[in-house]
Amino acid sequence: MKQSVKLVAGNWKMNGVAADLTEVAALRQALSDTPPACRVALCPPATLIERLARDAGALIETGGQDCRAEAKGAFTGGVSAAMLKDAGATLVIVGHSERRQEFGESDALVALKAEAAIEAGLEPIVCVGETLAQREAGEAVEVVRRQVMNSLPLAAAGRPFAIAYEPVWAIGTGLTPTLEQIEEVHRAVRSAMIERLGLAAATPPILYGGSVKPDNARDILAVPEVGGALVGGASLKAADFLAIIEAA
Ligand code: 13P
Repeated sequence: MKQSVKLVAGNWKMNGVAADLTEVAALRQALSDTPPACRVALCPPATLIERLARDAGALIETGGQDCRAEAKGAFTGGVSAAMLKDAGATLVIVGHSERRQEFGESDALVALKAEAAIEAGLEPIVCVGETLAQREAGEAVEVVRRQVMNSLPLAAAGRPFAIAYEPVWAIGTGLTPTLEQIEEVHRAVRSAMIERLGLAAATPPILYGGSVKPDNARDILAVPEVGGALVGGASLKAADFLAIIEAA
Protein backbone atom coordinates (compact mmCIF):
# COMPACT_ATOMS: atom_id res chain seq x y z
CA MET A 1 0.00 0.00 0.00
CA LYS A 2 1.23 3.48 -0.81
CA GLN A 3 2.63 5.26 2.22
CA SER A 4 1.82 8.84 3.07
CA VAL A 5 4.25 11.63 2.22
CA LYS A 6 7.21 11.79 4.61
CA LEU A 7 7.05 14.08 7.64
CA VAL A 8 10.18 15.78 8.97
CA ALA A 9 9.41 17.34 12.34
CA GLY A 10 11.71 19.35 14.59
CA ASN A 11 11.38 19.05 18.36
CA TRP A 12 12.94 22.12 19.93
CA LYS A 13 12.45 20.70 23.44
CA MET A 14 13.09 23.43 26.06
CA ASN A 15 15.02 25.64 23.67
CA GLY A 16 13.98 28.81 21.96
CA VAL A 17 12.88 32.37 22.66
CA ALA A 18 11.52 34.99 20.30
CA ALA A 19 15.00 35.78 18.94
CA ASP A 20 15.24 32.23 17.59
CA LEU A 21 12.32 32.83 15.26
CA THR A 22 14.93 34.18 12.85
CA GLU A 23 15.77 30.52 12.19
CA VAL A 24 12.13 29.92 11.25
CA ALA A 25 12.19 32.91 8.92
CA ALA A 26 15.31 31.54 7.25
CA LEU A 27 13.73 28.11 6.91
CA ARG A 28 10.54 29.58 5.51
CA GLN A 29 12.48 31.53 2.89
CA ALA A 30 14.53 28.52 1.84
CA LEU A 31 11.44 26.31 1.56
CA SER A 32 9.57 28.86 -0.49
CA ASP A 33 12.55 29.08 -2.86
CA THR A 34 12.71 25.26 -3.14
CA PRO A 35 9.47 23.61 -2.01
CA PRO A 36 10.13 20.45 0.04
CA ALA A 37 9.23 16.95 -1.11
CA CYS A 38 8.05 16.17 2.43
CA ARG A 39 5.85 17.74 5.08
CA VAL A 40 7.80 19.95 7.48
CA ALA A 41 6.85 20.73 11.07
CA LEU A 42 8.40 22.53 14.02
CA CYS A 43 7.42 21.87 17.64
CA PRO A 44 8.68 24.83 19.69
CA PRO A 45 8.13 25.39 23.41
CA ALA A 46 4.48 26.25 24.18
CA THR A 47 5.39 29.91 24.66
CA LEU A 48 6.37 30.22 21.00
CA ILE A 49 3.61 28.23 19.33
CA GLU A 50 1.39 31.17 18.51
CA ARG A 51 4.19 33.34 17.12
CA LEU A 52 5.79 30.48 15.23
CA ALA A 53 2.46 29.44 13.71
CA ARG A 54 1.89 33.02 12.60
CA ASP A 55 5.38 33.41 11.09
CA ALA A 56 5.87 29.94 9.63
CA GLY A 57 3.94 30.23 6.37
CA ALA A 58 2.06 27.48 4.59
CA LEU A 59 5.02 25.11 4.23
CA ILE A 60 5.86 24.72 7.94
CA GLU A 61 3.34 23.11 10.29
CA THR A 62 3.42 23.92 13.99
CA GLY A 63 3.21 21.40 16.81
CA GLY A 64 3.18 21.19 20.58
CA GLN A 65 5.57 18.96 22.54
CA ASP A 66 2.99 17.57 24.98
CA CYS A 67 -0.59 18.09 26.09
CA ARG A 68 -2.71 17.16 29.05
CA ALA A 69 -5.24 14.38 28.56
CA GLU A 70 -7.99 16.51 30.14
CA ALA A 71 -9.86 19.18 28.17
CA LYS A 72 -9.66 21.78 30.97
CA GLY A 73 -9.64 22.19 34.72
CA ALA A 74 -7.52 22.75 37.80
CA PHE A 75 -4.18 21.53 36.44
CA THR A 76 -1.74 24.33 37.19
CA GLY A 77 0.81 24.65 34.43
CA GLY A 78 -1.06 22.28 32.16
CA VAL A 79 -1.83 22.89 28.50
CA SER A 80 -4.73 21.12 26.78
CA ALA A 81 -4.84 19.91 23.21
CA ALA A 82 -7.58 22.44 22.44
CA MET A 83 -5.31 25.24 23.74
CA LEU A 84 -2.52 24.14 21.41
CA LYS A 85 -4.97 24.08 18.53
CA ASP A 86 -6.26 27.50 19.53
CA ALA A 87 -2.67 28.82 19.49
CA GLY A 88 -2.20 27.62 15.93
CA ALA A 89 -0.77 24.11 16.32
CA THR A 90 -1.88 21.30 14.03
CA LEU A 91 0.23 18.55 15.59
CA VAL A 92 1.42 17.50 19.02
CA ILE A 93 4.14 15.13 20.21
CA VAL A 94 2.92 12.79 22.97
CA GLY A 95 4.80 10.19 24.98
CA HIS A 96 8.30 11.49 24.28
CA SER A 97 10.79 9.39 26.25
CA GLU A 98 11.92 12.48 28.16
CA ARG A 99 8.36 12.80 29.49
CA ARG A 100 8.00 9.06 30.04
CA GLN A 101 11.22 9.13 32.09
CA GLU A 102 11.05 12.52 33.84
CA PHE A 103 7.33 12.54 34.52
CA GLY A 104 6.63 8.81 34.71
CA GLU A 105 4.15 8.88 31.84
CA SER A 106 2.72 5.42 31.18
CA ASP A 107 1.50 3.96 27.89
CA ALA A 108 -2.07 4.32 29.18
CA LEU A 109 -1.59 8.05 29.85
CA VAL A 110 0.07 8.54 26.47
CA ALA A 111 -2.95 6.88 24.82
CA LEU A 112 -5.28 9.28 26.64
CA LYS A 113 -3.17 12.25 25.52
CA ALA A 114 -3.20 11.01 21.92
CA GLU A 115 -6.96 10.58 22.10
CA ALA A 116 -7.38 14.10 23.51
CA ALA A 117 -5.23 15.42 20.66
CA ILE A 118 -7.35 13.65 18.05
CA GLU A 119 -10.56 14.92 19.64
CA ALA A 120 -9.18 18.47 19.51
CA GLY A 121 -8.38 18.06 15.81
CA LEU A 122 -4.61 17.72 16.24
CA GLU A 123 -2.39 15.07 14.67
CA PRO A 124 -0.55 13.29 17.48
CA ILE A 125 3.02 12.04 17.01
CA VAL A 126 3.11 9.13 19.44
CA CYS A 127 6.67 8.35 20.59
CA VAL A 128 8.02 4.91 21.47
CA GLY A 129 11.52 3.51 21.94
CA GLU A 130 13.61 1.15 24.00
CA THR A 131 16.29 1.98 26.56
CA LEU A 132 19.88 0.84 26.14
CA ALA A 133 19.36 -1.90 28.74
CA GLN A 134 16.34 -3.18 26.83
CA ARG A 135 18.27 -3.09 23.53
CA GLU A 136 21.20 -4.97 25.08
CA ALA A 137 18.84 -7.56 26.54
CA GLY A 138 17.47 -8.23 23.04
CA GLU A 139 14.06 -6.80 23.97
CA ALA A 140 13.89 -3.78 21.66
CA VAL A 141 11.27 -5.14 19.27
CA GLU A 142 9.11 -6.56 22.03
CA VAL A 143 9.23 -3.35 24.11
CA VAL A 144 8.39 -1.12 21.16
CA ARG A 145 5.59 -3.42 20.03
CA ARG A 146 4.04 -3.28 23.48
CA GLN A 147 4.36 0.51 23.60
CA VAL A 148 2.62 0.86 20.23
CA MET A 149 -0.22 -1.50 21.22
CA ASN A 150 -0.81 0.33 24.51
CA SER A 151 -0.05 3.96 23.56
CA LEU A 152 -2.14 4.13 20.40
CA PRO A 153 -5.81 4.88 21.11
CA LEU A 154 -8.47 3.11 19.06
CA ALA A 155 -9.76 6.61 18.24
CA ALA A 156 -6.72 7.01 15.96
CA ALA A 157 -8.19 4.65 13.35
CA GLY A 158 -8.79 6.63 10.18
CA ARG A 159 -7.55 9.90 11.73
CA PRO A 160 -4.23 11.62 11.01
CA PHE A 161 -1.46 10.48 13.35
CA ALA A 162 2.17 9.37 13.27
CA ILE A 163 4.38 7.13 15.37
CA ALA A 164 7.95 8.16 16.16
CA TYR A 165 10.46 5.42 16.97
CA GLU A 166 13.13 7.03 19.12
CA PRO A 167 15.55 4.68 20.83
CA VAL A 168 16.23 6.36 24.20
CA TRP A 169 19.97 5.66 23.91
CA ALA A 170 20.14 7.42 20.52
CA ILE A 171 18.63 10.70 21.71
CA GLY A 172 21.20 13.47 21.99
CA THR A 173 24.09 10.99 22.03
CA GLY A 174 25.27 10.97 18.43
CA LEU A 175 24.63 7.21 18.43
CA THR A 176 22.15 5.63 16.05
CA PRO A 177 20.99 2.06 15.45
CA THR A 178 22.19 0.38 12.26
CA LEU A 179 19.94 0.78 9.25
CA GLU A 180 19.00 -2.90 9.63
CA GLN A 181 17.99 -2.34 13.25
CA ILE A 182 15.90 0.68 12.27
CA GLU A 183 14.16 -1.34 9.55
CA GLU A 184 13.50 -4.24 11.92
CA VAL A 185 11.83 -2.02 14.52
CA HIS A 186 9.89 0.03 11.98
CA ARG A 187 8.46 -3.16 10.44
CA ALA A 188 7.45 -4.33 13.93
CA VAL A 189 5.84 -0.93 14.61
CA ARG A 190 3.83 -1.17 11.39
CA SER A 191 2.56 -4.63 12.18
CA ALA A 192 1.61 -3.59 15.73
CA MET A 193 -0.21 -0.52 14.37
CA ILE A 194 -2.21 -2.71 11.98
CA GLU A 195 -2.90 -5.25 14.70
CA ARG A 196 -4.23 -2.47 16.90
CA LEU A 197 -6.16 -0.36 14.37
CA GLY A 198 -6.62 -2.53 11.30
CA LEU A 199 -5.76 -1.47 7.77
CA ALA A 200 -6.39 2.19 8.66
CA ALA A 201 -2.90 1.98 10.15
CA ALA A 202 -1.21 0.86 6.92
CA THR A 203 -0.29 4.38 5.80
CA PRO A 204 0.37 6.79 8.72
CA PRO A 205 4.07 7.65 8.80
CA ILE A 206 6.53 6.04 11.20
CA LEU A 207 9.24 8.59 11.94
CA TYR A 208 12.72 7.73 13.14
CA GLY A 209 14.20 9.95 15.83
CA GLY A 210 17.51 9.99 17.71
CA SER A 211 20.65 11.81 16.53
CA VAL A 212 19.32 12.48 13.03
CA LYS A 213 21.85 14.85 11.44
CA PRO A 214 22.51 16.20 7.95
CA ASP A 215 25.17 13.51 7.42
CA ASN A 216 23.04 10.46 8.27
CA ALA A 217 19.56 11.66 7.26
CA ARG A 218 19.67 10.46 3.66
CA ASP A 219 20.53 6.86 4.60
CA ILE A 220 18.02 6.71 7.45
CA LEU A 221 15.19 8.26 5.43
CA ALA A 222 15.75 5.70 2.66
CA VAL A 223 15.15 2.73 4.98
CA PRO A 224 11.91 0.87 4.17
CA GLU A 225 9.07 1.93 6.51
CA VAL A 226 10.89 5.09 7.61
CA GLY A 227 8.26 7.72 6.89
CA GLY A 228 10.13 10.73 8.17
CA ALA A 229 12.24 11.98 11.05
CA LEU A 230 11.75 13.55 14.45
CA VAL A 231 14.76 15.79 14.89
CA GLY A 232 15.97 17.34 18.14
CA GLY A 233 19.25 19.26 18.22
CA ALA A 234 19.62 19.53 14.45
CA SER A 235 16.24 21.26 14.12
CA LEU A 236 17.40 24.33 16.04
CA LYS A 237 19.44 25.72 13.16
CA ALA A 238 17.71 26.34 9.85
CA ALA A 239 20.69 25.19 7.78
CA ASP A 240 20.96 21.79 9.49
CA PHE A 241 17.22 21.21 9.51
CA LEU A 242 17.00 22.18 5.86
CA ALA A 243 19.69 19.66 4.95
CA ILE A 244 17.63 16.94 6.63
CA ILE A 245 14.45 18.09 4.87
CA GLU A 246 16.30 17.99 1.55
CA ALA A 247 17.33 14.39 2.26
CA ALA A 248 13.70 13.26 2.63
P1 13P B 1 18.24 14.52 18.98
O1 13P B 1 17.94 14.66 17.50
O2 13P B 1 18.82 15.75 19.58
O3 13P B 1 18.97 13.26 19.27
O4 13P B 1 16.79 14.38 19.69
C1 13P B 1 15.89 13.45 19.20
C2 13P B 1 14.58 13.65 19.86
O5 13P B 1 14.41 13.35 21.03
C3 13P B 1 13.50 14.27 19.07
O6 13P B 1 12.28 14.17 19.71
